[in-house]
Parts: sequence; C-alpha cells; structure tokens
Amino acid sequence: MAKQQQPGIKRLDELFAAEPDRLSSLSFDLAGLYFDWSKTHLDQQLLGEFAERAERMGFAAKRDALFSGAIVNPSEGRPATHVAERGSGAPDDVDLATARHQRTRALVDAVEAGAFGDVTGVLHIGIGGSLLGPALLVDALGRKSRLTVSFLSNIDGQAFDDAVKPLNPATTLVVVVSKTFTTAETLANMEAALDWLRAAGISDPHGRLIAVTASPEVAVEAGIDETRILAFGEGVGGRYSLWSAVGVSAALALGWEAFEELLEGAAEMDRHFRFADPGENVPLLAAFADRLYVETLACQTRGVFAYDERLRLLPFYLQQLEMESNGKSVTIAGEPVDHPTAPVTWGGTGTDAQHAVFQLLHQGTVLVPVEFVAVREADDTQDPDRHRQLLLNAFAQGAALMAGQASDDPQRAYAGNRPSATILLDRLDARTLGALIAFYEHRTFANAVLLGINPFDQFGVELGKQIARQLSDGADEAKLDPSTRALIERAGV
Ligand code: F6P
Repeated sequence: MAKQQQPGIKRLDELFAAEPDRLSSLSFDLAGLYFDWSKTHLDQQLLGEFAERAERMGFAAKRDALFSGAIVNPSEGRPATHVAERGSGAPDDVDLATARHQRTRALVDAVEAGAFGDVTGVLHIGIGGSLLGPALLVDALGRKSRLTVSFLSNIDGQAFDDAVKPLNPATTLVVVVSKTFTTAETLANMEAALDWLRAAGISDPHGRLIAVTASPEVAVEAGIDETRILAFGEGVGGRYSLWSAVGVSAALALGWEAFEELLEGAAEMDRHFRFADPGENVPLLAAFADRLYVETLACQTRGVFAYDERLRLLPFYLQQLEMESNGKSVTIAGEPVDHPTAPVTWGGTGTDAQHAVFQLLHQGTVLVPVEFVAVREADDTQDPDRHRQLLLNAFAQGAALMAGQASDDPQRAYAGNRPSATILLDRLDARTLGALIAFYEHRTFANAVLLGINPFDQFGVELGKQIARQLSDGADEAKLDPSTRALIERAGV
C-alpha cells in the first residue's frame, strides 16, 4: 500500500477525522438508490482538481452533445442515441425511439393475447450487448415470470444444448438479436434454433422467430419476414441497447409496464447526470474516483460485488460496458492517451466472494477499489434475518477494508486504508434497476470525457474475429506463427 503514501492522498481515517461532513458531502440519495463514496480517497482538493479537469476536457459541452443527438462517436460518424430511448435527445431521435417502442409493445401485447398460440418460453439468441443486458434484466427481475427465458450466445454447441434444455419447442418463441445481423455466433445459433424447431415438427419455424436489429435489410436477406423484425437505431450501441427493442425478451418476461418503468428509472438518472452540478453529479464523482485509483494509485482492476443473488449478472454486464467502452489506447484525435484508461472490471456475489477472493482484497499487495451493490428489501421466502446478515456482511467488508487492524503478528495484520464505494438500492424493481444501469453508463461516459477517448466504438474486437474467419475459410496456415499452427494441428481443426 506504499502507493497510498503519495503526497496529496490522505488516509481514509484521516479524511473522516478532518472532514466532519464527509459522509454527507460524498453520499447521495437519488432515484431510489443511496450512493456512498465517502470511503474513497476523494477529498475536497482532489474534487476541485478533477472538476477543473472536467472543465478543461469540455465535459459540459460533450454531455450536451450526447443529450442533443450530436455525433459523439466520430470514428463511426454516429451519435449515441441510447438516451433517446429514455426520452432525452434530439426530438427526431426521441420520436423514432417512441414509435419503435410502440411496435415492441404491440408484439408483447400480441404474444399475451395468444397471437403466437400458447407461449411458455423464449429462446433469446444474441451475444455481447445483444444479450448481456436482457439477461441481467430477466435474472434480476424475472424470477416470478410465467415465461422461461433462456439465453444463448456462444458458438459452442454445448451452449445450445444447455439453452434449449428447459424449453418446449412447441411453445417457444425464438428472439434473435443482432445489431449488425452478421455476427457469426448469432447466425449459427439462429440456424440451429430453426433446425431444433423443425425437428420438433414445427411446420413454419420462421413463424416462431422474431429478429431485433439495426440492419433490417440484412435480416430480410437472411430470410426473416419484415413483419417479424423489430428495428432499433444505428446510434444505439450494442452495450447501450437494452432500452430498445433489444430488451424485448425482458419485456415479454416482465410485462410492458415493468419495461416502461425501467426506462423511467433510467430517465431519472439521465436528468440528474444532465443537469446536476459537478460537485453533486454522482456519475461524474464516481468517475473522479475511478480516475484517482487508476491514474494516481495505479490500480489496474476494480471489483464489483453484488450482495444480492438477483444482481449476480451485474459484474458481467459491467465488464462489457466498461471494458469495451473505455479499454482504448488513443484519444478521439488518434493520439496516444495520456493516462491509463479502463481498469479490468471483475467481481462476483457476496457473501460467496468473501470466502474465495477477499483475502487478496484485505491483505494482498495490489490495491483494488471495491464496489458493493446491495438492496435494502429482500424478495425471498426465507427468514428475514438472512437478508439482514447479507447486508451486514457487505457493510462489514467495507468497514474492515477501511479500518484494517494492527497486530504484532504480521500474518494477522490488516493495513486498512483500502477504498470501497457502496450503492444501496431501496428495493430492486424495474425503476431502480433502470437508474442503476444508467448510472453506470454515464459514469463510463464521464470517464471517457476525462480521458479524451471515444467510448462508443470497439475496433479492438475485430482483428481476432477476422483471423478466425480467415482460418475457417481455409486461409494459408503457413503464414501463422508456429505456436498457433501447432495448436491448430494438435486440435485437428
Ligand atoms: O464483437 C463485439 C460486438 O460487436 C459487441 O460490440 C456487440 O455487442 C456484439 O459484438 C454483438 O454484435 P451484434 O449485435 O452486431 O451481433
């Protein structure tokens, strides 16, 4: 922890002793969520410096550009219109998003009215941003749904077998989500799903399939009837897309009303991010802490621990959101970026993680800023004391990380002064989950602005795909490195 002795960075206990109003100035009640950033090393001086940096980096203008539908993704010449899905943005974008929501709603109503016969299950096919958001929504909120929603992404045939196991082909709708409708894994899984329906005697398998895409013409070419395509906008990035028709599986499982509440919760966070001053702007303040840990204290990872089984997919969702958005090395202008960019996002669920990885968090030689996400109200059928224990465990971990404990025995000593942030939701419902996810989106955007990078493209994912495609098409293996050649030979592929 020597790094924390850096000039200008005070110990957490010193910060609490020196600032009587520390808790109130670094904790916020917003949209049914309580944010506590007081156990981070931010102090008034650092906050002032980061606010100056935000100003220097044109934060206000860039935020206005995001919310006005201007081009904020210049490498692809696009705006980022996910906020329009929640009602903020250029009026044309908002109108289009609203009209598209009406089509999604009509489909949900039609399914509920029996237009597709008896529907007991949904097979949602997609990958990355075309799956992780809806999977998080359904896992978090859909436990009482009458529909079984199964998510399928991987090219691995085992994933297909596992995904269809709980489904009855005669009463399953297949929802294929792909922004581009060219993603190899998704197309292979769609074909396999059509075969699965055929093999079960479904005479018109395409009639059981809904496609969701920003490239409807490509879906039509792939044989999908126009009437069964739900479109969303080019400006909606995959990892920002759950608010659009991409969320249709969640809307089917949770009901349209819940889906609208999700949008409203996100809209409340949008209003906060758009209009709150820097000193009270929660996503921006969280980004200040992120920058402090990555840049000044050289943290290469950040750990997110959901102290609620319903949010167990949150770390996976955040991995894509944060790492695909900000895992970059050059600025918007293509210059090498001045600072380390996104840390590795990882995490798990509490209390399980306490018994597996928390050793390193408390006594390891690397500093990991930790985030606890918990929910005040339980929704299980067990003795309420279990939820009480769950929450007390989360809070105890944050306290222990900060306080540490001296000991004459070095093996048993805890240095303390280890940072954590806590987000406590009043309850977990569509509205609070919408606000929570939008908080993470805006925090990611704020980090990108502070770094001067573009969070909305992802060219880094292309090279590996390209090589796999070439190999699959029979490219000359002699051009490959010896290690890769040997692996291909040994696997016999
Ligand atoms: O390869 C990465 C990626 O392009 C992600 O950005 C995206 O969410 C995912 O693949 C799926 O892409 P699509 O929705 O076009 O199938």
